[in-house]
Amino acid sequence: MAGCAARRAAPPDPLFLPMPRKLFVTTALPYANGKFHIGHIMEYIQADIWVRTQRMLGNEVNFVGADDTHGAPIMIAAEKAGLTPQQFVAGIAAGRKQYLDGFHIAFDNWHSTDAPENHQLAQDIYRDLKANGLIETRTIDQFFDPEKSMFLPDRYIKGECPRCHAKDQYGDNCEVCGSVYAPTDLIEPYSTLSGAKPVLKSSEHFFFKLSDPRCVAFLEDWTQDGRLQPEVANKVREWFSVRTNPDGTTSEGLGDWDISRDAPYFGIEIPDAPGKYFYVWLDAPIGYLASLKNLLTQRGQDYEAYMADPQLEQVHFIGKDIVTFHTLFWPATLKFSGRKVPDNVFVHGFLTVNNGEKMSKSRGTGLDPLKYLELGMNPEWLRYYLAAKLSARNEDIDFNATDFMARVNSDLVGKYINIASRAAGFLAKRFGGQLAEVSADGDALLEHMKDVAPGIIELLAEREYGKALRETMLLADRVNAYVDQNKPWELAKQEGMDARLQDVCSTCIEAFRLLTIVMKPVLPALAAQVEAFLKVAPFSFASAQQRLGAGHVIGTYQHLMQRVDAKQLDALFEAPAQAEQAPAATETAAPGGEELVPTITIDDFAKIDLRIARIVQCEAVEGSTKLLRLTLDVGEGRTRNVFSGIAASYQPADLVDKLTVVVANLAPRKMKFGVSEGMVLAASAADEKATPGVYVLNPWPGAVPGMRVR
Ligand code: 2FM
Ligand code: ZN
Repeated sequence: MAGCAARRAAPPDPLFLPMPRKLFVTTALPYANGKFHIGHIMEYIQADIWVRTQRMLGNEVNFVGADDTHGAPIMIAAEKAGLTPQQFVAGIAAGRKQYLDGFHIAFDNWHSTDAPENHQLAQDIYRDLKANGLIETRTIDQFFDPEKSMFLPDRYIKGECPRCHAKDQYGDNCEVCGSVYAPTDLIEPYSTLSGAKPVLKSSEHFFFKLSDPRCVAFLEDWTQDGRLQPEVANKVREWFSVRTNPDGTTSEGLGDWDISRDAPYFGIEIPDAPGKYFYVWLDAPIGYLASLKNLLTQRGQDYEAYMADPQLEQVHFIGKDIVTFHTLFWPATLKFSGRKVPDNVFVHGFLTVNNGEKMSKSRGTGLDPLKYLELGMNPEWLRYYLAAKLSARNEDIDFNATDFMARVNSDLVGKYINIASRAAGFLAKRFGGQLAEVSADGDALLEHMKDVAPGIIELLAEREYGKALRETMLLADRVNAYVDQNKPWELAKQEGMDARLQDVCSTCIEAFRLLTIVMKPVLPALAAQVEAFLKVAPFSFASAQQRLGAGHVIGTYQHLMQRVDAKQLDALFEAPAQAEQAPAATETAAPGGEELVPTITIDDFAKIDLRIARIVQCEAVEGSTKLLRLTLDVGEGRTRNVFSGIAASYQPADLVDKLTVVVANLAPRKMKFGVSEGMVLAASAADEKATPGVYVLNPWPGAVPGMRVR
């Protein structure tokens, strides 16, 4: 029977709209203070599958990401690493590509919230909010670290729990008794940055008046009009009636949002407010727009015109931990600065690994995505597995190693890949790769698949990937049943059955093509291999409505996908201590309790001038329990004054006349007790409370003051 494309008119299909949709899609911007973890990769894969689905439907998509660069933790991490925040985040950004390329996550642009576009947009948006009467200033009291000369975010204050008296509890809640309080309630509070006792200091802060009736009315409508997932909308509804204050008390309705932070802060300056910066969460989502603007500018397109198109749909993929920011602050920020509001926010749950065990590097239960790639594991196994677990609901999913191996090996390879491998060999060897006309039984199978395909595509478009893949595997089961009934390996041995063999194998290849089309958003690299093998143009979903047809000559089959080997999973989850013996394993313990800072070049290192110094004098510093004052001879014909935080570890007299190493070209720093002209090198563990002690470096005999350390 002839191919059916010509025989049956395709029914009108609501999926293939006459007017393509225009979509602007983002994923949450990761903080630029660490490598991607598997949770990031899951979100990117979820969004990437959706974007690819939309593109295969003929819709136009811009899919962007960026590093979320600002805030106190990044500023502090950079300082610890001896880098400027800009250098620090550049090092993190340089590590992103290997993950994104590795897992076939095809962002159109990856940018930074510290880019000029974001500074400009954030300041413009702020000015518009202000002009709309939605910004006000208030003076608030906050803990201040007198040694670091900075206001302390709650996470950098610890002390004794006011209720159960447990030591070393965070500023906002006690991990021992669970009580919630304000940092000012802590007994004996201390700054985790310097150990100093914080003092209360007042400062003017800028607030976005979210409690303004205009904001409340807008958000009540925007969050409850059906756009959000029902479980998300229900949760958000609670916030309109009651909220929890930092001190654990509750108040009615939406509170105003503190959007400013005082210098020193790595962030964007607030216009006309010297020393004030936007809180990182104000400019982070604006980074979505900045990345898009940067992309459009590179292409010579007009950002304002693009955003002004009423057809444009703006969609954000996020995790369930940042719903407040994306369903209250962000839409309100856009609305009341006169900008387009998001059309939707798609919220996913968390990913746990191996039956919900909390991810921990030391116990080796985490799934390090880079290690996965470096072990040579196929990125599309992970894409398939995660897709098989994902739904449109905000629910947690678990990566289970046994389940992973079973699904990939028995479904993906066993049911799907095998269809091609069972048929292609006969076609190549016996028929020069040429497809034949398909007879009635094969035609019925293919027509059924073609009829089911739009439903699968619709499930993909609704982010019901798990259901879509289950439907796809049911189709694969039917194809395998057809193969088992017709037994091409037996037909191949029988006289006079050539035509039937070619017919059966042609049906299989066409069925394999249809399965590949519907799984292409999940398995893009594999689909590209299949397109090359079948010698066809890149598949769109519309390709599912046509047939290859008799006479088409396919290419030579090369094995498309290996099975997962249990040894790979063993190596992936091997605890770091044993990982050294595993092939290509790269997981290492964090030495001294902290991760290595990003790689620098030899040129970067050459900028640091390390010299041998003799400690000529050493004395305690009145008023400081931490510092010693050192007088150093660095071979310059003069001495230098250097303060060093080593008082807890050394008696001043013990250091006199000893040699050490000093950073000789560090810019002089004015401290409370005088100017420090360099820095003495000393070793310490990241967690000085758990592993106390600071150890000053001391060169081997023979070194003399002034020698360079290189
Ligand atoms: O929670 C986080 O990891 C944030 N960096 C997410 C920011 S999303 C957006 F607003 F930029
Ligand atoms: Zn407590």
